[in-house]
Amino acid sequence: MNHMKRSVVSVAVSRCPRTSVPEMKGEVGRVIGIALIKQFGWKADLRNPSLEIFIHLNDIYSVVGIPVFRLPLASRAYIKVAGLRSTIAWTMASLAEINVGAVVLDPMCGLGTILLEAAKEWPNASYLGADVSDSQLLGAFDNLKSAGLMDRIELFKFCVTELPLLSQSVDVIISDVPFGKKFKLGKDIKSVLHEMERVLCVGGTIVLLLSEDLHKYLQDYKESNITWNSSKDSTDEFKIVKYVNAEEKNRIQENVSSSFQDVRQECLDKRPLFGTLVQMECHKVSLGRTEAFISKYKKIHASELQQPS
Ligand SMILES: C[S@@+](CC[C@H](N)C(=O)[O-])C[C@H]1O[C@@H](n2cnc3c(N)ncnc32)[C@H](O)[C@@H]1O
Repeated sequence: MNHMKRSVVSVAVSRCPRTSVPEMKGEVGRVIGIALIKQFGWKADLRNPSLEIFIHLNDIYSVVGIPVFRLPLASRAYIKVAGLRSTIAWTMASLAEINVGAVVLDPMCGLGTILLEAAKEWPNASYLGADVSDSQLLGAFDNLKSAGLMDRIELFKFCVTELPLLSQSVDVIISDVPFGKKFKLGKDIKSVLHEMERVLCVGGTIVLLLSEDLHKYLQDYKESNITWNSSKDSTDEFKIVKYVNAEEKNRIQENVSSSFQDVRQECLDKRPLFGTLVQMECHKVSLGRTEAFISKYKKIHASELQQPS
């Protein structure tokens, strides 16, 4: 504690950009700084503190932390060109249930951070990365080389909506869905998910990093499908897929009135995004300046529209 009495301290406050009271940021830093100085007799030094205190604010909670290491936890000696924060990439991989012998795909791999983190931690699996951008693939290649993982991760130039992979040939998909100014996907997310659903085997896992907007868009889309079905059956997502089963389709077609058929057709045209994909968990994470969601899905059975190859 003697050492602590001589300490110089800095308090850094960050806040989620959408926090409703932006001016609180400076005020919180000031109040906490003064309290520490009064309580412990520490001095404030923003340039060369021996102790840093980080406070992250949003509208619901605040996180107070004291970094244990000088280097950020996310820094990796083997990453030559930095992409997604490595700690987020590792967390996504740890949720994905990568078993021995699994085929793991990141179809929008960018600089390959997710594949690198996964292949380092779960070495007994095969890893595939795809991207449409030559420069991103070149960066990923540099990272793989630097990490010594060239023999364990294969890179390809493919579009995520037209993967030249057999249906149900992949066990795990992990991806950081583009949402910034540089790479944007918008409503194409539905075709992205359909292609992921096609190549994923039954029982397989998808873990996605989604912007707040994309997350909300998918939640709304899912809820609109559930509402339509719940008036006739149950709110259980699992049962939604009934409406695309051939047998069920024929049975309904024989019995329903033409007006109901129109409504049903409209819903079938919507293609059930979550027909075979069930959301298992969802976690809000901070990316520093923005917040995002890690969303995990499982494929519960084969789609009628897919022919297992
Ligand atoms: C958010 S970045 C991924 C960053 C990556 N996790 C990393 O650590 O570098 C999204 C990536 O999606 C790629 N992308 C955008 N549209 C695509 C498409 N249609 N098919 C495949 N990749 C695509 C972009 O080139 C970009 O590299």
